[in-house]
Amino acid sequence: MPYNDLAALTALVSEKTCAVMLEPIQGEGGINTPDAEYLAQVRQLCDKYGALLIFDEIQTGIGRTGKMFAYQHSGIKPDIVTLAKGLGGGVPIGAFIASDKVATAFGAGDHGSTFGGNPLACAAANAVLGVIAEENLLDNVTTVGQYLQAELNKLQLKYPQLITEVRGMGLMLGAKLTKPGRDIVNQCMEQGAIINCTAGDVLRFVPPLNITKAHVDEVITILDKVLALA
Ligand SMILES: Cc1ncc(COP(=O)(O)O)c(C=O)c1O
Repeated sequence: MPYNDLAALTALVSEKTCAVMLEPIQGEGGINTPDAEYLAQVRQLCDKYGALLIFDEIQTGIGRTGKMFAYQHSGIKPDIVTLAKGLGGGVPIGAFIASDKVATAFGAGDHGSTFGGNPLACAAANAVLGVIAEENLLDNVTTVGQYLQAELNKLQLKYPQLITEVRGMGLMLGAKLTKPGRDIVNQCMEQGAIINCTAGDVLRFVPPLNITKAHVDEVITILDKVLALA
């Protein structure tokens, strides 16, 4: 179903709905950020029908948007949050967090898996959470994210025939192109900048949370050169 479309969601949700699951900002979908009120409206809809609200924060969670969880920008709380990518800082781990009420549905051992609760992976995640706090990385994400967004906005002004929109939050940003992004990504790679393309035509920027403005400058310089020839 379409993202950020309350009418479309309302048409699907009823007393028979168990849960609504969505990303607070869509990653693979093309860095789609919902309207300010959308997540709160979805919460209301779920409450009306007794459905759980699950946020997939696998891309947005663990500081990516400048808060520990992206839902914290919205003023509402989901019942369940799923996490992975950033949680282990490169070490594979996935997790979900539930409200006290929902968590009572599980007892110890109900949801086992071979590597679930792996001590090494959990130690890595613990270290990640420690570093995020000790190094004030949430502040860094906000500051450097705003800087990156501003620099991308400048590129949009310079190349309006190529970039139609810059969107996202914190260090989860996208630049919507007027054509497929694959060649631009490949050419940036040849010059030493790893960026990515989602949804075919959205350049996606999800750098490490400890990136500096100097790193942003390097990427923007490379991207500028590549766009000039695109
Ligand atoms: C938002 C989101 N949800 C879920 C997944 C799947 O996660 P996993 O590979 O940990 O099952 C991904 C993977 O890219 C993702 O980006």
